[in-house]
Parts: sequence; structure tokens; C-alpha cells
Amino acid sequence: MGFLCGHGINGFRFIIDYVCQTKTSRCAEIGPFNYCFPHFHSDSVVYAGVHDMIELIARLSSKTVEAEASFSILDLAIKHDIPWLFSCTHGTCARCRCLVTEGLELLNEPTEAELDRLEPEEFEQGYRLACQAKVVSQGHVKVKNVPYF
Ligand code: FES
Repeated sequence: MGFLCGHGINGFRFIIDYVCQTKTSRCAEIGPFNYCFPHFHSDSVVYAGVHDMIELIARLSSKTVEAEASFSILDLAIKHDIPWLFSCTHGTCARCRCLVTEGLELLNEPTEAELDRLEPEEFEQGYRLACQAKVVSQGHVKVKNVPYF
């Protein structure tokens, strides 16, 4: 275990100033509005607020936006007014289905709902459900909304 030390901006984003193995006085030197988080593995970096860009492609428009901790791909599309098709928001309708053409390895593992709804071949081809998939590691992700109909 170690610590990630840095400063926060806009409530969520966290910029790492340094990484240390034990908490020291230097951790406190970074001042108010700054933070020092324990971290155990690379996923924790994401939940401390370090993110990258995700390119969201819908039928009628596309945008590149900043991935945010705990936001699904669908949440990001809705937040940024991208006309992403969806209905249930909990992994059953598959209207939000998407093809991840870059950065598939940067997403969370498929959820139980996705395992129930999508076929194994779809996972092999890079399909996910946007209401279930989240960016959990740093890097560029490119996703296209590809519903069945
Ligand atoms: S919105 Fe229904 S499965 Fe994602």
C-alpha cells in the first residue's frame, strides 16, 4: 500500500503531485483543499479522480469528453447531451449496446447483467452495455452506440 498525494479541482478531478509509501509530513505540506489517499492498486487511482478522455459516437453526433469516476458510458452520454439510445438503464433492454473500438481493456469487467444479456461472441467482438460499462483505468477509449435495431 502507498499514498497518492495531490490537489483536487472541480470537486472530482484529482491531480497527483507525488506518490509515497508512507504518510509523511510532506503529505500535509500540500495544504488545504489538497488530499492524500491510500491506494492499493491501479483502480484506486481512478477512484481518486484521475481520468482520461472517452470518445462517444452516437448515430447523430459524437463528442470526446472526460471520463469521470463512477459514471457509466451511458451516464457520460446523457450528461454531455449525446443522443445515445437507452431504455431501462439497468442492463436488460440492450438499447444502449455499444462497440468499444479502442480501450476495451480500460473498462470494468462485464457485470452480471451484461453476462446475462450479451452473447459470449459479442464480448469477444468488443460489445458492452453502456449503462453497465465504466472507465476504470487511464487511457483513450472510443465507443460507438450500436443497438440491435
Ligand atoms: S439501457 Fe437498458 S441495457 Fe442499458
